Amino acid sequence: MARILITSAIPYINGIKHLGNLVGSQLPADLYARYMRARGHEVMFLCATDEHGTPAELAAAKTGEPVAEYCARMHGVQADLARGFRLSFDHFGRSSSPQNHRLTQYFAGRLAENGYIEEVTERQVYSNADNRFLPDRYIEGTCPNCGYHKARGDQCENCTKQLDPTDLIDPRSAISGSTDLEVRETKHLYLRQSALKGELAAWIDSKTDWPILTTSIAKKWLNDGDGLQDRGITRDLDWGIPVRKGDQDWPGMEGKVFYVWFDAPIEYIAAAAEWAEAHGRPDADWRRWWRTDEGAEDVRYVQFMGKDNVPFHTLSFPATIMGSRDPWKLVDYIKSFNYLNYDGGQFSTSQGRGVFMDQALAILPSDYWRWWLLSHAPESSDSEFTWENFQAAVNKDLADVLGNFVSRVTKFCRAKFGEAVPEGGSLGDREQELIDDLYIRIRAYEAHMEAIEVRKAAGELRAIWVAGNEYLQAAEPWTVIKTDPQAAAAIVRFSLNLIRLYAVLSAPFIPDASETLLKALDTDGDWPNDLRDALARLTAGHGFATPDILFRKIADEEREGWQAQFAGARR
Ligand code: MF3
Ligand code: ZN
Repeated sequence: MARILITSAIPYINGIKHLGNLVGSQLPADLYARYMRARGHEVMFLCATDEHGTPAELAAAKTGEPVAEYCARMHGVQADLARGFRLSFDHFGRSSSPQNHRLTQYFAGRLAENGYIEEVTERQVYSNADNRFLPDRYIEGTCPNCGYHKARGDQCENCTKQLDPTDLIDPRSAISGSTDLEVRETKHLYLRQSALKGELAAWIDSKTDWPILTTSIAKKWLNDGDGLQDRGITRDLDWGIPVRKGDQDWPGMEGKVFYVWFDAPIEYIAAAAEWAEAHGRPDADWRRWWRTDEGAEDVRYVQFMGKDNVPFHTLSFPATIMGSRDPWKLVDYIKSFNYLNYDGGQFSTSQGRGVFMDQALAILPSDYWRWWLLSHAPESSDSEFTWENFQAAVNKDLADVLGNFVSRVTKFCRAKFGEAVPEGGSLGDREQELIDDLYIRIRAYEAHMEAIEVRKAAGELRAIWVAGNEYLQAAEPWTVIKTDPQAAAAIVRFSLNLIRLYAVLSAPFIPDASETLLKALDTDGDWPNDLRDALARLTAGHGFATPDILFRKIADEEREGWQAQFAGARR
């Protein structure tokens, strides 16, 4: 039995995530966590909301809530949706937790002690009316390029030109509208990532088994000039983790907070501490996942994320950990994803384009989405969601193949033998052939799951379902029963055991359907380590209940309705 620590990139608190976000991190992480648990390993699966930074402040300002309240509410919304999609986190934390405050301040202190923090004096816009320094995007004015009146200090929304706040004509505070602005000197902390460049490069070079998508992005940032520049890790904001050196004040840093990208990955660790607190466990119980001097030396740590997150996880966060010179666990494997596109364009949160998690669950149960998303995961390249493709996959794979097999077998058994596993007959060559075929396929499925080859695993699972259908079609119990009821009973008994096998193998992809089947068959779901034994588990006389339709088909009119409903932007 191994111990596996799994984290998914933590979603920003502002707004509900779309299906492209889901398939790029949380959903495949859940697939892997469920699989590893099913194989008997000890798993710690962590996620959280990423709650700091300007986007959170701006989103709260829009709804009129204090930012802390906004975050608490949105955390609840995201946690509900995670449950709706059956994401089996051991803990879904918050980057604003007291645990993350403490750990983030602790890491900053360690980095400073080890000489990896530099204090830099900068000139920055200060608003006298608001009594604060203004981040670039909190300054508005007229664009020197196109004359747009509401250009932001970082960029003009109208002509997309990148700007510096001092470029703006008639600059004013976006908070109060005040023009009483001045440039003042202020101090910020920089993480000296460049001093860790050699160490980081050697570490990444040692990861020869990582996906090319991950290492190519890491190496590009490592070697392309500005990738590993020292990085500002403090901001002039109210909402965030106050800058402290461990539990000490940091002279000159009063009123400043850490930059969101500094504290967010530390939440991976803090989430484990939150988990311990939530379950009334001692600190040693979470530290054995994270400290290689306290039990984590045999932990395998796997991260899941979209490709835009790779630089932070291959360079910045490892720099934080390495620079602490503490024995915290570094990631062992990074699974990254390309983008999922939506119907000829991009999913877009800001434009409300695509299908969002709440909308998806309002239309169909989570298994339908899980199956489509995972079997089309954007691994080797970007992939695209279209309603036609979604309809086709659901109708074919879930309804025609898996659902149909279950319903034919259980209904036939009920009609001819009653709702109990029938007695008599024995297995013949046809069954033996299927067992041989399944044996090879299941080993392949396991290998793809171990390697986190999501699409390949889905393809193999589909082939396993198809093999059962083909077997049933060829074995024809409905014909055989007319001349040899004993032989028909053996076919049905074997097929009922196939349903049980399918429930177990499919659980990581479609957990609800799996549970429905296991309940209907009144059985439990241990992994088929011994296939022959697994296919003889339901013995003659074992009662079952014929399940309702497992997956329904999507009709053309319904699909057209959704296409129309989702054609515009989310309202
Ligand atoms: N919130 C970020 C995003 O959605 C991900 C942060 S991952 C972390 O892109 F590790 F940094 F927390
Ligand atoms: Zn402009």
